[in-house]
Amino acid sequence: MTERFLLAIETSCDDTGVAVVGERGTVLAARVASQDEHHRPYHGVVPEIASRAHLLNMEPTYRSVMDASGLNLEDLAAIAVTSGPGLVGSLLVGLNFAKGLSLASNRPLVAVNHIRGHVRALFLEYPQVPLPALALITSGGHTHLFLVNTSGDLALLVKTRDDAVGEAFDKLAKMLGLGFPGGPAVDRLARQGDPKRFAFRQPKLSDGSKDYSFSGYKTAALRHIQAQPQAFRHEQAVSDLCASFQSALVTHLLDRVKQAFAQHAVESLLLGGGVACNSELRRRATDLAAELGIGCLVSQPKLCTDNAAMIGAEGWFQFQHGGRAALDLAPKIKAKAYCEYRPLR
Ligand code: KG4
Ligand code: ZN
Repeated sequence: MTERFLLAIETSCDDTGVAVVGERGTVLAARVASQDEHHRPYHGVVPEIASRAHLLNMEPTYRSVMDASGLNLEDLAAIAVTSGPGLVGSLLVGLNFAKGLSLASNRPLVAVNHIRGHVRALFLEYPQVPLPALALITSGGHTHLFLVNTSGDLALLVKTRDDAVGEAFDKLAKMLGLGFPGGPAVDRLARQGDPKRFAFRQPKLSDGSKDYSFSGYKTAALRHIQAQPQAFRHEQAVSDLCASFQSALVTHLLDRVKQAFAQHAVESLLLGGGVACNSELRRRATDLAAELGIGCLVSQPKLCTDNAAMIGAEGWFQFQHGGRAALDLAPKIKAKAYCEYRPLR
């Protein structure tokens, strides 16, 4: 049987992504138009600028992906698009473009949850993911630990109650003048740094909850800088702070993974989202999984950061389970990715 293909569109934040993805996971063509240069002067994503840049990037990115795929609109089975969570103005650009294509081609529109897309990216590379699994999805906007059941559905175990972990990386980079996005720069400098030089306490939430919490780390980092501003003129202090900060964040992330493993019988640990590009997180998660006797699967970097191939993969899952969206589909800026919430005890 020949493989069917759908078109996927992702515009939830600051990357304009388009991909043509097959039902068996073939990615025929995929492009991401980055907006980093637009947001760099502000050290973070500016929503208004993001929506305008999506408007400029959308059509050329779509054309280049269709050309590379060698397909025409009428060859597609469906149009999948991220409907949330994300920035309202950014989501609207992708949604309206997808609706236009759906109308023009008379192909069904499929709404995709962005975070489920990050989880599904793992299935593109590893179609036989051993389930059930724990999936740690970490990015600039979200920090979630999920239980993925044998049918591929998600239950949320842990979420952040304040900043996302990628946001913490970006804020440290801003304090140290390392540019945007900050995570890759912190990761790079941390390799030459001493992770024991600066102390970071793990958060203890007063209500005893097992949520993630990252806002305290940036305050602690600021205190370290203010305590000895002269030292930070030297690159070694900057590298040491990056290493200490990164090590503390990874410890916090993996601590909850260990607790979740003690409460749920799982076969594998999955890492996705932009922060899953982090070299220390990848290394220590792999070591932890080996210790626990399970496999650790990590997406390749281009499938960790926002992209449309992952939206295509989740689009197929939804489409094959009857998912069809109406043309009045609205952006769902706080859309939930999971069917139940089962906080750790
Ligand atoms: O998934 P993503 O592309 O977009 C969101 O949905 O947010 O993730 C972007 C985030 C940014 O915060 C960026 O600093 C972070 O991922 N990031 C990293 C690394 N590469 C990207 N954080 C730490 N280490 C990295 N190597
Ligand atoms: Zn994302």
